[in-house]
Amino acid sequence: MNIFSTLEPAQQARQLSNPEGPVGLAVAEWLNGNNREGTAQVLAMMKLRPDCHVLEIGFGNGRAAPEVMGQAANIRYSGIDISPTMVDEAIRFNQTHISAGRANFHLAFAEQMPFPDATFDRVFSIGVAHFWEDPTGPLREIYRVMRPGSFAVMGALDSRSPPQFARPEFGFHLRTASEWEALYRNAGFSTVNTQVVETEQTTPDGKPIKRYSVRVTAQH
Ligand SMILES: C[S@@+](CC[C@H](N)C(=O)[O-])C[C@H]1O[C@@H](n2cnc3c(N)ncnc32)[C@H](O)[C@@H]1O
Repeated sequence: MNIFSTLEPAQQARQLSNPEGPVGLAVAEWLNGNNREGTAQVLAMMKLRPDCHVLEIGFGNGRAAPEVMGQAANIRYSGIDISPTMVDEAIRFNQTHISAGRANFHLAFAEQMPFPDATFDRVFSIGVAHFWEDPTGPLREIYRVMRPGSFAVMGALDSRSPPQFARPEFGFHLRTASEWEALYRNAGFSTVNTQVVETEQTTPDGKPIKRYSVRVTAQH
């Protein structure tokens, strides 16, 4: 039995939105397995090239970072997350890359990021944007830190067949692809493409289930 299945839906939502302590670490590990297919798809969509500077928003336990840096030569990785537990774990796990000056991990909100304007060639985020009650601030901030001509890839839960824990009263704000498209355009992105994708996941009690996510590709 995985630890996630032992939690009440409200606790599941809380540990996904801001993982905390040993339970948060165990939930993040469970999530790595569940998000493996989606993460691989998002990495492929980013078409990473040598020397790209990549930003991840909401890196969780930091397991995607080495995969990002393995995509091409001299990729630099920066990440932000609001959870001190996740920041500590991501730093522990990626110490070699940090010491080599190729990766850095920050405790920060997407709404206010510690980076100058026009820093990144790619931005990505998996399973985070559905926690934004009003995505306007985070999307404008993402736009600010992107270089002209760069693009962002974001995956969030679709409003179709949501899991039991993904309720507004628990901090989940699920949107359709067309709602996301309008939000990205309002934040200044020029070309915005969306798709709804189906991935194989497991329910909290371990049964296989199809989940639906919105993927947004947005050009600066
Ligand atoms: C469901 S987890 C996903 C983690 C990772 N992306 C993955 O797919 O395994 C969501 C993560 O986003 C972080 N997070 C939530 N809201 C955030 C925000 N406004 N800015 C930055 N990170 C945020 C949480 O602390 C958590 O680590």
